[in-house]
Amino acid sequence: MRLRGLTKTFGTTRGIAGVSLDVPTGGVFGFLGPNGAGKSTTIRLILGLYRPTAGTATVLGLDPWRDGAVLRRRMGYLPGELSLFPRLTGQETLDRFSAARGLSDLRYRTELVDRFGAEVDRPVHTLSKGNRQKLGLVLAFMDQPELVVLDEPTSGLDPLVQDEFASLLHETVATGATVFLSSHDLDEVQRVVGELAIIRDGSIVAVDTVQGLRGRSPRRIELWFPGPAPRMAFASLDGVEVLSVADNTMMLSVAGAVAPVLAAAADQDAVDITARSADLDELFRTFYRSQHRSEAPDAH
Ligand SMILES: Nc1ncnc2c1ncn2[C@@H]1O[C@H](COP(=O)(O)OP(=O)(O)OP(=O)(O)O)[C@@H](O)[C@H]1O
Ligand SMILES: [Mg+2]
Repeated sequence: MRLRGLTKTFGTTRGIAGVSLDVPTGGVFGFLGPNGAGKSTTIRLILGLYRPTAGTATVLGLDPWRDGAVLRRRMGYLPGELSLFPRLTGQETLDRFSAARGLSDLRYRTELVDRFGAEVDRPVHTLSKGNRQKLGLVLAFMDQPELVVLDEPTSGLDPLVQDEFASLLHETVATGATVFLSSHDLDEVQRVVGELAIIRDGSIVAVDTVQGLRGRSPRRIELWFPGPAPRMAFASLDGVEVLSVADNTMMLSVAGAVAPVLAAAADQDAVDITARSADLDELFRTFYRSQHRSEAPDAH
C-alpha cells in the first residue's frame, strides 16, 4: 500500500493533510494517533469511501476511489463504528455478509466464531460492545483476504480475546497477507505490530519499528550524591531534563549521548547511578503532546 500526499478536507475542517506512507506487504502495520488525528479518515480513503481532496493512494495495485468496489471485495474491513442490522442475529449477519461476498466454504468462519467465542444466536443490538467487536473481526477475516484494514480493532476486547486476536494476526501475515490496524493505545498493539506510523494533527510524525522507537526513547538516569543533589550541574546539559530532585538523588531524562552526563556525574562525585530505557509509553506521549498544547484555549 502506498499513500502519497493524501489529503482530505471536509469543507474548511482538516481531515488529513499530505499523508505519505508505504505499508509493506505481508506484515502487521500499526497506525497510531490520538483522537481526531485522522486515522479513520485515512482508512476511509484507503477503502475508497472518501474521495481524496489531493494526493493518491494505491492499494493492492488499485486506486481506491476509482476501483473501490473491486478493491473492497479483496479486502477485509472492520470499521471504527461497526453498524449492523440490529434485529438480525449474529448468525444471520454472518450469513448475509458471506452471501454478499460469495463465500461458500464456511469452515474458516466457523473456526473464527469458535476461537473468539462470538455470540451468534442473539440479535446484534442486544450484544455488548466487545461481543459486537468479535463479530466484526469474524466478518473482517472470514474470507481470508489479502489485505485486512481494522479501525481500532482492540477497543473493548478483554485480555483473552486480545491474545486470540494476536495469534490470528500472526497466522494471517504468515500466509503473506497484510494487516493495517489503527489504535490510540500503543500498549495494546506494540506486541503485534512490526512497523508503525504515528499520525498527529492530520500528518505523519514518525514511522518506525517498535524496536526503533524504543532506541529513540530518552533514557532515565538516576544519580546519588554524597550531599544535596546538584541540579544546576545537569539542568543545562543538552538533551537532559531534570525530572525530580530529592535530597541526595536526582532523576534525569536523557535524550542524546550519555557522556556529558557521566562527566558531570564524575565532576560532582556521584556515588551511584542506575539507567534504564524510558517506557515507550513516555516517548509516545511526547508524540501526542503538542496537539493538546496547540488546542489549548487562549487565556483571556
Ligand atoms: N465526515 C466528517 N465531516 C467533518 N469533519 C470530519 C469528518 N470526519 C472526520 N472529520 C474531522 O477530521 C479529523 C480527523 O478525524 P478522524 O475521525 O479521522 O480521527 P481519528 O484519528 O479516527 O480519531 P478517533 O481516535 O477519535 O477515532 C477530525 O478533526 C474530525 O473532526
Ligand atoms: Mg477514528
